[in-house]
Amino acid sequence: MNLVEFASVTKRYQLGDVEVVALDGVSFAVQPGDFVAITGPSGSGKTTMLNLIGCLDAPSSGEMRVMGKAVSSLDEQALDQLRSRTFGMIFQNFNLIPVLTAEENVALPLHLHGLSRQEMRKRSQDALRAVGLERFAGFRPDQLSGGQRQRVAVARALVTRPQLILADEPTASLDTTNAIALVELMKQLNADHGVTFVFSTHDDRLLQHVRRIVELRDGKLSVTREHAAHQEPASSVPQTDDQGVL
Ligand SMILES: Nc1ncnc2c1ncn2[C@@H]1O[C@H](COP(=O)(O)OP(=O)(O)OP(=O)(O)O)[C@@H](O)[C@H]1O
Ligand SMILES: [Mg+2]
Repeated sequence: MNLVEFASVTKRYQLGDVEVVALDGVSFAVQPGDFVAITGPSGSGKTTMLNLIGCLDAPSSGEMRVMGKAVSSLDEQALDQLRSRTFGMIFQNFNLIPVLTAEENVALPLHLHGLSRQEMRKRSQDALRAVGLERFAGFRPDQLSGGQRQRVAVARALVTRPQLILADEPTASLDTTNAIALVELMKQLNADHGVTFVFSTHDDRLLQHVRRIVELRDGKLSVTREHAAHQEPASSVPQTDDQGVL
């Protein structure tokens, strides 16, 4: 089963008298284990597409299915359930809470899942280990580098064991070395633990590290390419524990 399916999905925004077509008849599917980059120039519809996939917004027309369910048929409560159980999110600016430690930040999404404190700690520590940051569990974000902060954000996205992690320009606040290390880390989580990723990027330097690339132009999906990505992990990639997180 496809995790996500778009059939001729269009998204229009009304700005005063002007109608903007942010996505224009996009058909697309994500399967379990996929690792997909969405690319395209500024304003081409990348954020719009990720927001639709994450059920944060609804299409103007066309059909979207998530986990086999037609999203338009779900009420608010069912949508909330679907969002919190299906997706993990990574943001461009990390969105960590400054007064909380790395471990407390990672544990945040678990508060909705009705787990014991002990289980929450264990899951958070496992997720930090998977991104190579177990030694930094007690550090606050301002005590971490940019690359480490974004790895905490990856751990926070992993901790609920989502079906799919969505990331809108997750490398945009990182320098090239850290940006490539982050993509390699995501690839490693994909290869070792089967975590499915869909992320957007402007950055052509990252795309040589990605197998499946979807390109948007003016809201239209213009190209889908697959190519053999480098399989060698970068030396800066942290090693995960054999038991993993999933
Ligand atoms: N809430 C909104 N209201 C009106 N128009 C919007 C809204 N969000 C996006 N748009 C328009 O939809 C189009 C696509 O925007 P989107 O943010 O998806 O592009 P993007 O590819 O993510 O761009 P960037 O690379 O700059 O982040 C743009 O023309 C934008 O102006
Ligand atoms: Mg965007």
